[in-house]
This record gives sequence, structure tokens and C-alpha cells, in this order.
Amino acid sequence: MTVSAARTAPPAESSVLLRRLVADQGRAHWKGYLLAFVFMAAIAASTSLAAYLMRDVINEVFVARNSRAIWILSGTIVAIYTVKGLATYGQQITLTRIANAIVGSVQRRLYGHMLAMDVPFFAERHTSEFVGKLSFVATSSAAVLNALITVAGRDFLSLIGLVTVMIVQDPMLSIVGGIVMPLAVWGVQGLVKRARKIMRSEFTGGMAVLETMQETVRGIRVVKAFGLEELFRARMEGQIAAVQAAADKRARVGARSVPLMETLGGFAIAGVILYGGWRVVSAGETPGTFFSFITALLLAYEPAKRLARVHVDLSANLVGVGLLYEFLEQPAREADDPNLPALAVSGGRVEFADVRFAYREGEDVLNGLSFVAEAGKTTALVGPSGGGKSTIFALLLRFWDPRSGTVTIDGTSVDAVSRRSLRARIGLVSQDVFLFAGTVAENIALGRPGASRAEVEAAAKAAHAHDFIAGFHRGYDTPVGENGLQLSGGQRQRIAIARAILGDAPILLLDEATAALDTESERAIQEALAELAKSRTTLVIAHRLQTIQRADRICVIEGGRVVEEGRHDDLLAARGRYARLHEIQFG
Ligand SMILES: Nc1ncnc2c1ncn2[C@@H]1O[C@H](COP(=O)(O)OP(=O)(O)O)[C@@H](O)[C@H]1O
Ligand SMILES: [Mg+2]
Repeated sequence: MTVSAARTAPPAESSVLLRRLVADQGRAHWKGYLLAFVFMAAIAASTSLAAYLMRDVINEVFVARNSRAIWILSGTIVAIYTVKGLATYGQQITLTRIANAIVGSVQRRLYGHMLAMDVPFFAERHTSEFVGKLSFVATSSAAVLNALITVAGRDFLSLIGLVTVMIVQDPMLSIVGGIVMPLAVWGVQGLVKRARKIMRSEFTGGMAVLETMQETVRGIRVVKAFGLEELFRARMEGQIAAVQAAADKRARVGARSVPLMETLGGFAIAGVILYGGWRVVSAGETPGTFFSFITALLLAYEPAKRLARVHVDLSANLVGVGLLYEFLEQPAREADDPNLPALAVSGGRVEFADVRFAYREGEDVLNGLSFVAEAGKTTALVGPSGGGKSTIFALLLRFWDPRSGTVTIDGTSVDAVSRRSLRARIGLVSQDVFLFAGTVAENIALGRPGASRAEVEAAAKAAHAHDFIAGFHRGYDTPVGENGLQLSGGQRQRIAIARAILGDAPILLLDEATAALDTESERAIQEALAELAKSRTTLVIAHRLQTIQRADRICVIEGGRVVEEGRHDDLLAARGRYARLHEIQFG
């Protein structure tokens, strides 16, 4: 399980996160929040006014039996509730719009930051982590701000209004009713930390579910072919059960305040009835005051409850906000490097000099590797799998940086130029071809965004892909689904080659580019690639040695260094490693 939540430093203080979120997002939407606040003030005012009017309802209608007052009061109540309805509508619309805007802006920021990360960052993580973050983190940021504003706005203002009504009606009664408030606030404080912890484990568990789900979809053929359904079902079962348990626990902890709050509420109301009733019965107080007071008290109950536990709800959602800042705080390891000059390729001579590199500490992959790929020539890299050939390409493209030694193009070190310009001048057909959701034509056009349909077709023809594409019912407009899985390996590879042809970069990297092709199409493509290689520096990694016999130079790579190099015939004559490999393949 590779979820960042599991390996992060202790979470930041709620108040710090909250302040940061308000500074980041709240400020951008202050006008909207102000409007929502006005609506909420209207809600609070109408609620309080309704409670206040109860005195007249009781005194005029029930005590004085004033029939004119019946009409006036009912009319006023209708007006008050109409205002309240409209204000609630306005508040909901305003807050939802702001929430949507925040979700959008957080997602844009997360995604932008994600793109600025380098390849190792992604190599350490599972896709589900990003999917989970993008949705959970964004919605929780919006939820926090909106909870804050509804509680601070609607509930707090309502409470102020209603308490004012209570005090106006009977100050002494207010003290009786309000005496339980501090108790209630104290009662929920202890729940905050627990809610937060549980939310974190709920999120981590949710990510595990996503992870299994995605792997099942991507590896569905393996799952089916090996009959792994039960195994996966069991794995998923455990993960779902964990999330369910965490969610249940959070509900339990959250609800733990309910009995306390209800009991305290009961005491408050009972106290008011005792004292207020006594005043009406023996001191001759009007029943209107008493009823108005009770109404205000009852109406104040819900907002007071929400206000008392706002901490608990906020802190649960702040888990997501914490994850957001945790991620944004990681330095953009591959941020734009506009200060660096663009790479200028004159001939395209590639040189590796005494390069040492390890993906993981202590597991050296390249051990002082040196070789030269001459400008405009084809250099082949061969050798046993795991020897470090693909790694050489990764270093040339600066997906990773070597620990020591230099990688240069025309004498310029690759880390002295901007990554963007470096990669723009290198074409890559990699071992595993990735096709994006979209049409065949769109996938080829990724080689050079903005290419015309005619250029796309010309590239496809050169890559010997045109015939099979034209054979599709919808031709170039055939959609290729996720990862292009409905195409054969050879077809995918030819699309990747067409991409590279379209890109027309001065340096071309082919990593087992023809491995998935049958002999027939391979021969055709070999010719296309030979044509392509003519005018540029080409590095070819190949398992099948007949594909590289015509290379200008062959480097045999083993254990992270070049153990032999030369032309095909010379290497055969030398009877060394290459001759051995050749013998194994051709008998
Ligand atoms: N992203 C990675 N993280 C860690 N180790 C890797 C990674 N990619 C490759 N390796 C390891 O580096 C070694 C060389 O891999 P690679 O360059 O792909 O070999 P080749 O292309 O010659 O088959 C292998 O032992 C492989 O396990
Ligand atoms: Mg490889």
C-alpha cells in the first residue's frame, strides 16, 4: 500500500490549516461569502422575529381575543417565512457555486502540481492515490469553508438573534436557559481528535479500495486467465470491511455528543418551564412572554447544537485539507526551468562518460558506463535483460539524473539545458506503448500537437500503420479505449512509431520498438525505421540481433557497463559476448 497518508508527518494543527485555507480560497470568494452572509443574516432575522411574535400571538389572540390581530399576525408570519424561504434559496445557491468553484480551483492546482513532478515521484506511487486525492481533497476543502460559513453565518447569527429575543422577553429566564451551554461545548471537545484520526484511516482505506478496483480493471485478463476472482474478492472484502468499520466508528464518535446534548437541552427547557411557569402562575406574568421565550429557546436548540459540534465536523474534513497542503508543499521537482537555455542540436552526438546510477540506494544499475553514439549514425544497445539499457534512455531524457558521470549531447550536458527543449529534440518509441483515450489520429498527433490530418496519415503510412488503420470501420477516427487495449501489441507499436515519425526529432530512441511485431511487418518497419534513421542520431535497443546487424556500432551492455563494442562482423570475429549472444539466438 503506497498511500501518502500512511507515511506522512504528524498533521498540522487544525487552526493553521483553516487559516491557510481561508487565506487561499476564502479571500478569492469574499464577495460571494459576503452575499451568502447577507442571506444568512436575513434567515437569522426572520427566525428571531417569528419567535418574538409569539408573545403577541399568545397575548393578543388567546388572552385579549383580538380578532384583527389574528389577521395582522398571520399576514406577518407569511411574510417572514417567505423572506426566510427566499433567503435560504439565495444562501444555498451562493454557497454551492462557491463550493464548486473551490473544488475546481483545488483540482486545477493539484493537477498542475502533479504535472510538475518528475518521473521518480510517479514511480513511487499508485494511480489510485491521485484519483483519490483529486476528488476527496477538493471536496473536503469546499466542505470545510462552507461548514465554517454556514455555522458562523446562519447558526451563529440565528443564535444571537434568538438569544436577544430571550433576553428582551425575560433576562432572568435567559440565565436559567443558558446555564447549560458551557457544559455542552465542553462535552464535545474530546471528540475532535478522535474524529480526525478515524477520518484519516477511512480515507486511507478508501484509497486501498480504489487501488484494487483499478488494478482489477487493468489486469482483468490476468485475473480471469488465472482464475483469481476469489483471491481479489477476498482482498477487496478486507479493504471494504475496514472502510466500513472506520465509517461506522466515525458515526459513533460523532453521535456520542447527541445523548449529552439532548439531556442538557431537556434540563434547560425544564428549568425554563419551572421558573417561567412559576412566574406566570404566581407572579402574574403574561403567558405571551413565556411562550415567546420557549419558542426562541426551542428554535435556538438546533443551531446551538451545530455550533457546539462544528469543531468535530470541521476537523474531520480538515484531514483532506491537510493532504492538499502536504502535497502542494512538496517541491515541484520538475518545475519549469526558464533560466536554462534551450538545447541546440547540431549533429546530435550523444555521449555517456563514466555514468553511475542507482534507482535505489545500494543497487547500482549503471557502473561507470561510457559510450558514444556518433552524430547521424545508428548505435545499437544489446545485452541481457536487466542490464540497464532502458535506463540509459531514461537518463538521456532526464527522467532520472545520474549519481556521477556526464551525459552530453553535442558536448552540452543534458542538465544544463531546459528539460522541455531536451525532450523536444528526442523522439522515443518505448518498450510499452501507451495510448491515451481518444481516436487513432489523435494518438498519432500527440507526436506533434497541431499536425494536420494529412501529416498524420503520412506518418502512419511511413510506420506501416495506414493499412490496418484504414481497415477499421471508422478509420483514423476509431476510438482507442483506455490504454488502447483493443489493439494488438504490434499495432500499438506502429502507432507509437508513427508518433515518433511525426515528431521528427533529430535524436531517435527505439526501445525494443519492433519486439511485438511479426516477422512480416517487422521487415517492412525495419525499412521505414532505416529510412528514418538516415538523417538522425539513432539509438536502438533490440533483443533480436538480426534487426541491428546494419548498425554503425553495437554496444554490448552487461551489469551496467559496456563490455564490448564494434560492428557486427568485427564483434562476431572477436568471438566474445556478442558472438555468444548471436550463437544463442541463431544456433
Ligand atoms: N523505476 C525503477 N525503479 C527501480 N528499479 C528499476 C526501475 N526501472 C528499472 N529498474 C531496475 O534497473 C535494472 C535495469 O533495468 P533496465 O534498464 O530496464 O534494463 P534493460 O532495459 O536492459 O532490460 C533492472 O534490475 C531493473 O529491475
Ligand atoms: Mg528494457
